[in-house]
Amino acid sequence: MNNFTFHIPTDIRFGKDQIQCLPEELKKYGKNVLLVYGGGSIKRSGLYDKIRDLLKDFEVSELSGIEPNPKLTSVEKGAAICKEKDIQVILAVGGGSTIDASKHIAAAACYDGEPWELVKDRSLVKKALPVAVVLTICATGSEMNSGAVISNEKTHEKLEINHPLLYPKLSVCDPTYLYTLPPEQTAAGAVDILSHVMEQYFQSNDEAYITDVLSEAVMKTVVKYARKAMDEPQNYEARSNLMWASTVGLNHLLTVGKGGAWSVHPIEHVISAYYDITHGVGLAILTPAWMEYVLSDKTVLRFARFAREVFGVKETDDAKAAELGIEKVREFNRSLGMPSTLTEVGILQDKFDEMAAEAVRTSGISLRAYVKLEISDVKKILMNCR
Ligand code: NZQ
Ligand code: ZN
Repeated sequence: MNNFTFHIPTDIRFGKDQIQCLPEELKKYGKNVLLVYGGGSIKRSGLYDKIRDLLKDFEVSELSGIEPNPKLTSVEKGAAICKEKDIQVILAVGGGSTIDASKHIAAAACYDGEPWELVKDRSLVKKALPVAVVLTICATGSEMNSGAVISNEKTHEKLEINHPLLYPKLSVCDPTYLYTLPPEQTAAGAVDILSHVMEQYFQSNDEAYITDVLSEAVMKTVVKYARKAMDEPQNYEARSNLMWASTVGLNHLLTVGKGGAWSVHPIEHVISAYYDITHGVGLAILTPAWMEYVLSDKTVLRFARFAREVFGVKETDDAKAAELGIEKVREFNRSLGMPSTLTEVGILQDKFDEMAAEAVRTSGISLRAYVKLEISDVKKILMNCR
């Protein structure tokens, strides 16, 4: 097992009505709050009113309209409000997009240069405002990690800024806030959670047995509950298990002792940077194609283990079990109503060369991934997704 450090400073308040802690917790940082949210789901669900009521003794400024795949322009707006209103704490209410924008705003508010410079060079992050979260969609794990993924429309880049100062101070995770999630967002979130764990599980170091077994438990949880949450939106058991799976799936716990660069996410980030598709949809299309491409004599044992442990495949022949595992992933995605080709989501091959080059340029996929992939490999995977 590799050496590691493990320190997550986020206070998680999980369960029904945990939101009541907000006034007490936020006042530790000050009275001036920037409330950040997306396109209006929190107004329709009533959560907005509840929060405004809880914060009645605070000075609240607002930044609404954070887009899925949040844009740099939103971050720039948020940072300007923070500077103008002397904001002391940011409250992000929403999913990965809102949380990620808030984290970047938190750093940009304490920086004199252009916010994008912080994404390009994280050593420029010296200070950040505290961020608190009320989570309304489970997918990214952003509620308990230090990453934020931001899109720069001008350059077609979708890049991560990652810094220890960006961990949320507090995250309220109430599974009942997921009840209003439409089935397609529930599905996209489930695929994202599964993908995060797979990215960490499929790595060359297989001596971190405990980490692998924990990962298998999280992946089984997603497979068990994803469709149920779509069919029964108010099923607390399904929602709560998925919500915790999303947090544990990407809070660093499942990478300890392992490490290595990710494979499918860098490719998806380029696709969603160019075409603005839902992150989980891109992952659903790419994952089986990536699995097929990297399955070989060298990787077969891990693929067979994945098939048996996560999907209960009984086949004793490793090569056949590995193939069946890939088929199970396809079946799972289909059962959630996910598209399986890029063509279905309107993406043709004209930009594949450019996108493959960008995926390799912006990630460690050719240097430190489970199976190292060059531009030509990424292009072939994209071609196999048509
Ligand atoms: O904007 P509103 O109106 O709130 O609607 C949102 C949005 O349209 C809606 N929604 C959220 N909660 C809802 C709800 N609708 C009804 N009821 C609710 N309770 O769902 C839509 C998607 O929201 P979004 O925040 O975009 O989803 P998600 O959490 O999947 O975040 C995706 C973004 O996170 C990035 C992705 O690339 C993408 O930009 N990621 C962030 C990561 C991280 N910070 O660690 C890692 C991930 O791999 C990922 O890259
Ligand atoms: Zn993801």
